[in-house]
Amino acid sequence: MDSHFSHFSDEKFQNELLGKLNLLQYCKSIDELRATCNLILDMIRLNHDFMASDFLPSGDADIKIGLESLTKELKQIRDSFTFERGMYYTRRLLKSLTQSRTTKINDINLLRWKDYGDILTDSFWSFERRTRQGSHSGWYWGNFVPQIPNQLLRRYTKQNDWVLDPFSGSGTTLIECKRLGRNGVGIELNPAVVQESKKVIDAEDNPFNVKINLLNADSSAATKEDIFADAPVSSFQFIILHPPYSNIIRFSKDSRDLSNFESTSDFLSAFEKIVENVKTYLDDGRYMGLVIGDKFSHGEWIPLGFMTMNQVLKHEFTLKSIVVKNFEDTRGKRNSSDLWRYRALLGGYYVFKHEYIFIFRKEKGRD
Ligand SMILES: C[S@@+](CC[C@H](N)C(=O)[O-])C[C@H]1O[C@@H](n2cnc3c(N)ncnc32)[C@H](O)[C@@H]1O
Repeated sequence: MDSHFSHFSDEKFQNELLGKLNLLQYCKSIDELRATCNLILDMIRLNHDFMASDFLPSGDADIKIGLESLTKELKQIRDSFTFERGMYYTRRLLKSLTQSRTTKINDINLLRWKDYGDILTDSFWSFERRTRQGSHSGWYWGNFVPQIPNQLLRRYTKQNDWVLDPFSGSGTTLIECKRLGRNGVGIELNPAVVQESKKVIDAEDNPFNVKINLLNADSSAATKEDIFADAPVSSFQFIILHPPYSNIIRFSKDSRDLSNFESTSDFLSAFEKIVENVKTYLDDGRYMGLVIGDKFSHGEWIPLGFMTMNQVLKHEFTLKSIVVKNFEDTRGKRNSSDLWRYRALLGGYYVFKHEYIFIFRKEKGRD
């Protein structure tokens, strides 16, 4: 790196920046406030490109400052019409750099909510392609994209919370748990899939030293002893359900496998049995996500999404959101997409391009 260039190391930059930001509160006039803001803005501009990330630790381990939103906040102070308004924004900014306000269900610092631009809050999710970071490789037919558990875990859990995935499959949720510092228990019926996914999950680093347990069992029958066998807790703070979409993909020949129920009503009853079993272990006031798509059968659209949603709502849950997520085209489907279009034109239907993520909250004593 060019030695005469006047940028600091990340750590020195952080100290200098925090020192200068602190000076804002001692300004005595709007001119002084504006000049100090300009000085800090120049400093950010000069150093930003050389930083490892767009986020800067503010000194408090839990608080991260996004340089983009900080720049906007400084411009807001600088462009204030009056000194009083400028000082009001200054106090708000300094408070957000030293204090944090979170809710019971996640670690999002609401005082710096603008720094969480990558956390989705709209009810339509569109992912162009799956994340392939870490051990995520998409080897399992019928998995979900890692962005789904990633979004849900950051939104509905805190670090060190316990998460249950009763349809663990290739372990996408458990890998995300490791990456985000959440403890996870997965249940999967198919022993071969358990064996393979264990390898993949083990290959993922464990920077937060969380516990990850994977059980080979039927989620409708797994007992408390089974589920918490290697866990020093007795409840979960989040459950994520990604059941088979009825019999669209057959996951095994096991008669307890949800993909092996011929009629939709049998599938729904078996699904409800699993909900009944696992909901017992979810703390009141905490959340459960259900990821599922619909299916076609004998020329009829079967709304598995809304049907399974209703099964959950028979119990002590309230519906908090229905998210519609795009279906990415898999290679196989892309090749046959013309054929699907032809069939759709012929048969009077639309080609599936979405699935659902239902978000429920467990309410106390509402069963
Ligand atoms: C849609 S896949 C889940 C995929 C997973 N989210 C992933 O990313 O790999 C559903 C999984 O549920 C499993 N399964 C089906 N019936 C089950 C049951 N009764 N108990 C536990 N697992 C079951 C299937 O073997 C399959 O792996």
